[in-house]
Amino acid sequence: MNRKTFLGVLGAGAGFSLPSRLRGLTASATQPAGIHSAGGQVARHTLPRMASISGERLALTAGESVADIGPGRSSVWTLNGGFPAPTIRLRRGQTARIDLENRLPEPTILHWHGLTVPQVADGHPRLAIDPGSRYAYEFTVKDRAGTYWYHPHTHGRTAPQTYMGMAGLLIVEGEEESAHELPSAEYEIPLILQDKRLGDSTSLVYNAAMGPDMMMGYLGDTAFGNGVADPTLDVKRGLYRVRILNASNARIFDLGLSNGDAFTLIRTDGGLLEAPVRLRRLMLATGERADILVDFSTQRAGERIMLRSFGFEVPGMMGGMMGRGRGRGRGRGGMMAGAMQGTEMDLVEFVVLDSPAESHPPLPIRFSPIPRPELGASTPRRTFRFNSMMMNHTINGRTFDMDIVDQRVPLGRTEVWTLVNESELPHPVHIHVGQFRVVSRSGGRNRVMPWEAGLKDTVLVFPGEQVEVAVRFDDYPGLFLLHCHNLEHEDMGMMLNFEVVD
Ligand code: C2O
Ligand code: CU
Ligand code: CU
Repeated sequence: MNRKTFLGVLGAGAGFSLPSRLRGLTASATQPAGIHSAGGQVARHTLPRMASISGERLALTAGESVADIGPGRSSVWTLNGGFPAPTIRLRRGQTARIDLENRLPEPTILHWHGLTVPQVADGHPRLAIDPGSRYAYEFTVKDRAGTYWYHPHTHGRTAPQTYMGMAGLLIVEGEEESAHELPSAEYEIPLILQDKRLGDSTSLVYNAAMGPDMMMGYLGDTAFGNGVADPTLDVKRGLYRVRILNASNARIFDLGLSNGDAFTLIRTDGGLLEAPVRLRRLMLATGERADILVDFSTQRAGERIMLRSFGFEVPGMMGGMMGRGRGRGRGRGGMMAGAMQGTEMDLVEFVVLDSPAESHPPLPIRFSPIPRPELGASTPRRTFRFNSMMMNHTINGRTFDMDIVDQRVPLGRTEVWTLVNESELPHPVHIHVGQFRVVSRSGGRNRVMPWEAGLKDTVLVFPGEQVEVAVRFDDYPGLFLLHCHNLEHEDMGMMLNFEVVD
């Protein structure tokens, strides 16, 4: 195995040595077919629930650990030993004090994705702390009730650290949501979706090669739910709410149910939509969240329903070459070790229990209105051009420089930012410190998708698309980030600094 790995390259370039555990994983890069081979019956594993933590003062310790990932045990990187990281539950308006301790063999820093926090609490990569050090976060929870998440933001190391397990849900609770009778407790399923590669059948492998893995991003061939491979969950004949996070490094899911039933989308990145919407498909790129209601009350006992990512084609030249077949075991031994972007993939199997059918109060037709930004000819505009060429992922022709302020944006001013994808790869674009509105999309899909109607912090821009978003930063001056949430693209520098100036 003399393939140069991403870890090796960045480890050397960034001036710190390769962690031994990951070096071990890198060495087991060949992937025998094992139980994950094409065709045969897939062994499924019970979808676990993450532990949850809440309160005014929280402590998170990053460290190396071992976790049961379904087919066996694997070396992982965790926060408080959880794989995935524990779910943090906060209330809107509360103050959160979170102490991070780094017991990893390399620097790290955590970011609260989607939350409006001061720059010192935002996890900018220049704040990364060395092994053995601590970082104290303090912020007020300003954002709407909803499903947010947290993950590392160490420059050049976000992809491997997230992949190895250091990501979790951050749920904000608030009156806006508790006013509605939404399914809760056992009828609420927090679901972290990821794709991963398994080496020697049972352990996680992160060995992104400088070639295709760093162009497409690190795509896996095995679906993970809440940290286990090929999950299954028994459900009663009732209405469930599934809080979905796509925490993959690069995988885009085109979600739907195998029986063709519709489901109800109630919430996206930044809280409830203005109104629930019935859908049969929902595309979630990395970093995006969605809350859907799935009604099992009309299903027969014993029914098996798959939450599936359906095959899709990425527009653009490289997209045209991407496969659409069944996911498992594709591409082994070829250039691509994981299944292609757009490959169909079974995610979570729901097994309907023989329980009495339950009724649920009807859903409100409308939730609360979301104020619309006033836009006009005089609204200031900026353009961000995303390119991927020759192993370079750039925004406006440049890669990330931690010490350069690329854009200065006045506090409290509404602007329209146009995100232009000039490459042949999809780019889910994320903007820090709060939520934006998607105003328009031209080219490609040519419309704002139903799941982009509410508040968003991440928006998928396909090749050939131009997406306009309305942004406004009201709360904190300081240095924040705009980047592609394909984690390999981000690590390679598809990111920039913007400073909100008072
Ligand atoms: Cu979820 Cu800057 O990231
Ligand atoms: Cu973020
Ligand atoms: Cu990208």
